[in-house]
Amino acid sequence: MEILRKSIDAKELVTVDTAPKGTILIVDDSPTNVRVLFNFLRDAGFKVLVAQDGESALQRAEYAPPDIILLDVMMPGIDGFETCQRLKANPVLCDIPVIFMTALADAVDRVKGLRLGAVDYITKPFLHEEVVARVNTHLNLRNLTKQLQEQAEALEQRVEARTFELSQSNDLLRQSEAQLRTQTQQLEESLRKLQQTQAQLVQTEKISSLGQLVAGIAHEVNNPVNFIAGNLSIANGYVQDLLELLALYQQHLPTPPQDICSKIREIDWEFVQADLPKMLVSMKVGTDRIREITSSLRTFSRMDTTQKQLANIHEGIESTLLILQHRLQPKSSAPTIELVKKYGNLPLVACYCGQLNQVFMNLIANAIDALEEAIAQGQWAPEKQNDTPPTITIQTAVEGDRVVVRVSDNGPGISQEDCQKLFDPFFTTKPVGKGTGLGLSVSHQIVVEKHGGTLSCISRPHSGAEFTIKIPLLELETET
Ligand SMILES: Nc1ncnc2c1ncn2[C@@H]1O[C@H](COP(=O)(O)OP(=O)(O)OP(=O)(O)O)[C@@H](O)[C@H]1O
Ligand SMILES: [Mg+2]
Repeated sequence: MEILRKSIDAKELVTVDTAPKGTILIVDDSPTNVRVLFNFLRDAGFKVLVAQDGESALQRAEYAPPDIILLDVMMPGIDGFETCQRLKANPVLCDIPVIFMTALADAVDRVKGLRLGAVDYITKPFLHEEVVARVNTHLNLRNLTKQLQEQAEALEQRVEARTFELSQSNDLLRQSEAQLRTQTQQLEESLRKLQQTQAQLVQTEKISSLGQLVAGIAHEVNNPVNFIAGNLSIANGYVQDLLELLALYQQHLPTPPQDICSKIREIDWEFVQADLPKMLVSMKVGTDRIREITSSLRTFSRMDTTQKQLANIHEGIESTLLILQHRLQPKSSAPTIELVKKYGNLPLVACYCGQLNQVFMNLIANAIDALEEAIAQGQWAPEKQNDTPPTITIQTAVEGDRVVVRVSDNGPGISQEDCQKLFDPFFTTKPVGKGTGLGLSVSHQIVVEKHGGTLSCISRPHSGAEFTIKIPLLELETET
């Protein structure tokens, strides 16, 4: 109590330690009131703080907020009402319950206090039990309110955490979606590659079996042809000798016996004599032609998968044309397809020539197919009076650092929609069994992937099609 009195005199706040149920700040300038309240509240188990005027009460409360404030109305300096107002205006202190201490008769003050935010009032002179009961009630209320607030805050935090988790789940979902999309794209890409590989396999198989067949036939034909060609020149000599011998006989025996004379007439010796050398010459021409063909077949079927070789592009085109020659032969029932060659001056080109020949083969065969189809559709029917015959033009040139080969026709052309799909594996407009739809896709692979070149097509319906191969001239090249 000594301490308390001293503190009040010094107008300072003093705390007294008890086993606190809660902290009460008494704000009153009357030492008698303070003493009375202090005693029985401390005895009731509260921690009690005291302030003698409004200003010091506000400072104290701000420094260490109490659980409840008992506030006198009449005080020196700012009165209880203003103190209450300032407490309620301060966000840190506004929640502290304020109980006014008023005179019993002062009903106006009580109402005013309650309006300003006080939770209750106690009347002087104080009834101990009433004061303790009201203080307890408001402390309980305040604790409950605090608990509720804490629970509300905890709930809010949980909601926030959950919202965050949800947004993360959403992110995860979005990530999975993106992953799924990437995987689908990868799958589509793999499928495309698989189709290309399949196309390549089928075509390689086609090429190699055709190549082997052609090479085999060329080899088999070549031996007997060489044999015939070799013997032909000897036979020619023998025939010359025999003719000379017979001429000698005629000279020395101008009138032969009757049966020789009849044989001479029977075999038309005059004609045989004149025709036999010509026949031998045409046999020589024939064997030379067969040798040419077998050598072309060998050029065409050259199996050169491992390394690029310097090759003459024109030879490749010629050997391809030779293989397709039967399709370009005049037919009695239809107009003949004309072949126009506009060959430029080409250097030897480093390439896989067997494969390039396949590309020429695919392009020229497609042009023939297209023209045959157009002929069948009547594009060159006499009544159409078409001035230009069905024509395939093969053009070669060097453009910059590239060798360019153009294969064009004046057939039905290709629609814009089909143009987009030309190089897709298995795209064909030909009937089942006629086209596999692999020719252009494999040609594209050969030109683009194997030779680093380009294969493109320009076409419009009814204006024919032009396919252009461009192959880079590599360091292996040499001028012919
Ligand atoms: N010169 C052309 N004129 C008109 N259409 C063409 C021409 N060249 C190609 N096409 C079109 O492109 C399609 C695909 O050609 P591609 O060579 O890839 O396959 P295909 O000829 O149908 O079958 P194959 O595998 O036997 O070659 C053809 O079916 C045809 O519709
Ligand atoms: Mg084709």
